Amino acid sequence: MILRARLAQSLSRQVRTTHTGRVPAVRKDSSAVQPFSEIPGQWKNSVANLYTFWKMDGLRNIHRIMVHNFNMHGPIYREKVGYYESVNIIKPEDAAVLFKAEGHYPKRLRVEAWTSYRDYRNRKYGVLLKDGEDWKSNRIILNKEVISPKMQGNFVPLLDEVGQDFVARVYKKIERSGQNEWTTDLSHELFKYALESVSHVLYGERLGLLLDYIDPDAQHFIDCITLMFKTTSPMLYLPPALLRHTGARIWKDHVEAWDGIFNQADRCIQSIYRQLRKNPEASGKYPGVLASLLMLDKLSIEDIKASITELMAGGVDTTSITLLWTLYELARHPDLQEEIRAEISAARIASKGDVVQMLKMVPLLKGALKETLRLHPVAVSLQRYITEDIVLQNYHIPAGTLVQLGLYAMGRDHRIFPHPEQYRPSRWLRSQSHYFRSLSFGFGPRQCLGRRIAETEMQLFLIHMLENFRFEKQRQVEVRSTFELILLPEKPIMLTIKPLNASR
Ligand code: HEM
Repeated sequence: MILRARLAQSLSRQVRTTHTGRVPAVRKDSSAVQPFSEIPGQWKNSVANLYTFWKMDGLRNIHRIMVHNFNMHGPIYREKVGYYESVNIIKPEDAAVLFKAEGHYPKRLRVEAWTSYRDYRNRKYGVLLKDGEDWKSNRIILNKEVISPKMQGNFVPLLDEVGQDFVARVYKKIERSGQNEWTTDLSHELFKYALESVSHVLYGERLGLLLDYIDPDAQHFIDCITLMFKTTSPMLYLPPALLRHTGARIWKDHVEAWDGIFNQADRCIQSIYRQLRKNPEASGKYPGVLASLLMLDKLSIEDIKASITELMAGGVDTTSITLLWTLYELARHPDLQEEIRAEISAARIASKGDVVQMLKMVPLLKGALKETLRLHPVAVSLQRYITEDIVLQNYHIPAGTLVQLGLYAMGRDHRIFPHPEQYRPSRWLRSQSHYFRSLSFGFGPRQCLGRRIAETEMQLFLIHMLENFRFEKQRQVEVRSTFELILLPEKPIMLTIKPLNASR
């Protein structure tokens, strides 16, 4: 069935203008739904497009190219680069139509490099890569253990402990600097914080990454995740099978990176598994996601291993980079930093030591994280293969088409977010409409499985850090982002961290 949600609106328009305000070149009859072949964009010569893409350094600039394309073609365009073809949209009301047509088994763009590695090493797919009924049955079980609101109470003490240890570590660094402040690029420390946090939740145990001496295997794991993301983006447009058969360096590095990730996850999983077999009696304490899944006995061990590995791999760069961008924005906005600190302080007093309650009392802090993800989203786009014919911007889109919602472009569009260049967490407070605008973690049953862990971990980090330190940035230069499957700062972000209580 064709969804005609936007049809009535477009029927009434006699002359349509594009997103940039210009009259579109091809628009013969605005009263009828236009065919798929009429969608503007570069999709007729995929090889030429791939060449232009390389010339524009498209790999690292994919997000800016999308903004450019929306400005050129309007709020919908079709594109074919290399071997993949998609329709791209930007408007919240079109996102609503898209997600209604995602079907019972929502399917994203497949990252061929990741599935090729699993097939090559004969390793199972986890929930990130599975599709269809297999995905659904695994996801339903994982949802209860990972994303259900009930789990937050279990995760909070584990994540709170890591947050407090991070503060202690920063004090130590400041003391060692001998200057009562510490100027640094925090990214490596944040990677360690994120891995320590996600591991504590998954395994119920600490890895010890916030100590002075860290396990080289854990450091190797972090390096492997960075390498895995870095080597994935060039393979988005070239078939990994070809690279594998030609012995390309990029494929070899990619395999080495995933091998390192799986080896470290295997070590952690084996250790918990052994402990559980030795001492199956529950101590009353929450044992972590892995042990809960093993005790539940509803998924095969191989399925559990595959998904736990994906949770561990997905749980490092995503949150650490978002925290880095948030500190960067707060350092650039000292008044806002003070306002959020005051909100935290009031929440601490009102919640009387109940951290779960406290997290319900910090809307501006939560708005800051949403605002960070609006300007610096982890994912440049959300994608779905639609399962039924739909109409978007008065164009017919046939079932089976890959439709991408440009998250980065949407976050920076002034028609959707007034003054998009301004970092304003208050725009996320309740009084305003957020209809299909807050999509940084995706949408619906296929949304980010780690969302609850990520949000809790990031909120607690900011609470502890803002209660103890002030963040400053020396030069007010804009830091742009670069695409390495996720969006990263193009250059190091140097921050100065000062204790609030200088006598401490
Ligand atoms: C700032 C933090 C994060 C952001 C912005 C983020 C964003 C996303 C997005 C946009 C998706 C795709 C959703 C969709 O297609 O609708 C996704 C999927 C996923 N994320 Fe996250 N993520 C974050 C942190 C995490 C963490 C910490 C974990 C693990 C603990 C994680 C694990 C996953 C998994 C397993 C999936 C695939 C789910 C599925 O296909 O069923 N993410 N994430």
